Amino acid sequence: SPWAHEPRRHPLLNPTSERPFNAEPPMKLLGENFFTPNEFFYVRNHLPVPLIDANKFELEVSIETTESGMKEQSKSLTLADIKRMPKYTVTAAVMCGGNRRSEMTRVKSVKGLSWNAGAVGNATWSGARLRDVLLAMGVVPNENLHVVLEGADLDPTSHPYGASIPLSKAMDERGDVILAYEMNGKVLSRDHGYPLRCIVPGTVGSRNVKWLSRIAVSENESNSHWQQNDYKGFSPSTDWDTVDFSKSPAIQAMPVTSAICSPVDGDALIIKDDGYLTVHGYAWSGGGRRIVRVDLTIDQGKTWHVAELQQEDHPDGRHYGWSLWTVRIPIENTTSSEVEIWAKAVDSAYNVQPENFENIWNLRGVLANAYHRIRVKLI
Ligand code: MTE
Repeated sequence: SPWAHEPRRHPLLNPTSERPFNAEPPMKLLGENFFTPNEFFYVRNHLPVPLIDANKFELEVSIETTESGMKEQSKSLTLADIKRMPKYTVTAAVMCGGNRRSEMTRVKSVKGLSWNAGAVGNATWSGARLRDVLLAMGVVPNENLHVVLEGADLDPTSHPYGASIPLSKAMDERGDVILAYEMNGKVLSRDHGYPLRCIVPGTVGSRNVKWLSRIAVSENESNSHWQQNDYKGFSPSTDWDTVDFSKSPAIQAMPVTSAICSPVDGDALIIKDDGYLTVHGYAWSGGGRRIVRVDLTIDQGKTWHVAELQQEDHPDGRHYGWSLWTVRIPIENTTSSEVEIWAKAVDSAYNVQPENFENIWNLRGVLANAYHRIRVKLI
């Protein structure tokens, strides 16, 4: 059975599917750590986890174009070769394109795993820069080319998981694309891509290819199902009869989002004498855009409370980690025994989350970044 070699997983991860294994941590746990502990980091697998012997591991790197005078060629790198290259560490949140899909589903059903808001995690990733590997092979920047990334995990017809990113992202010094062999300073675990994965900071999770086996500089995007016919956005009026996947670009940078980690929906809160409600969560935006503000309201937007941010200090455009935030909202004057809490984040381009899911609904349930809303009881 292809499932015979699945790794052990932490029992606190909540599976959204068992085979392939997909799971997210409980929200409260997620919000507790600026760096998500590896064992609680969400897992998104499309296929069985491949069993890879790191000593025999080889990464094939090819140039499949003669654009800009490049020479078509192919070479193979061992893990030792990659570890001999300068080592870089980057903080990056990885978020699934379908994170928070379950909230969008409340508008109208969609096709996809029913993620809560935990299909995201923040970690440090260490390894060689993809840019350095490509420069060593004589690759030159070219706005029209792509880098195709393939995993060692195979579908039943023996096709690997695959995705691609623009060559310009891979070659950008500020793009920080890493061939990672460490996550939070530890050897990558099997679920997260052991022995090598690509980390594409600021870019949707699906391009962060795990169990990396092949890299190709190409004139075309990856022809994989996941690049061509999945992880794309559409109008709310596009349905399965009218959808044409070739008409939408593959998601790369993700839009701004936030979620409340604590309390969680349905909690009954004992209000202490100080008369404040403490709310805690995460916020993140793609493309290296820094979070500049998170606003919360418990009165449908009549009054907004600005949260305090915890974030690393990186220049805008290169701020790939998430921000955690905390806010204390006064509730002495709240007479109701139930309150609805709304959260919205603002990024450095002053992009802000949309108010509701109705107008961003799409048939795959991706890019689900409307205000996060939960209801709690006060006792
Ligand atoms: N890479 C391979 N080889 N196979 C996969 O199924 N899933 C992708 C991406 N890379 C996937 C992959 C998707 S959709 C996401 S969201 C991230 O990996 C999840 O990374 P994680 O499991 O380490 O959280």
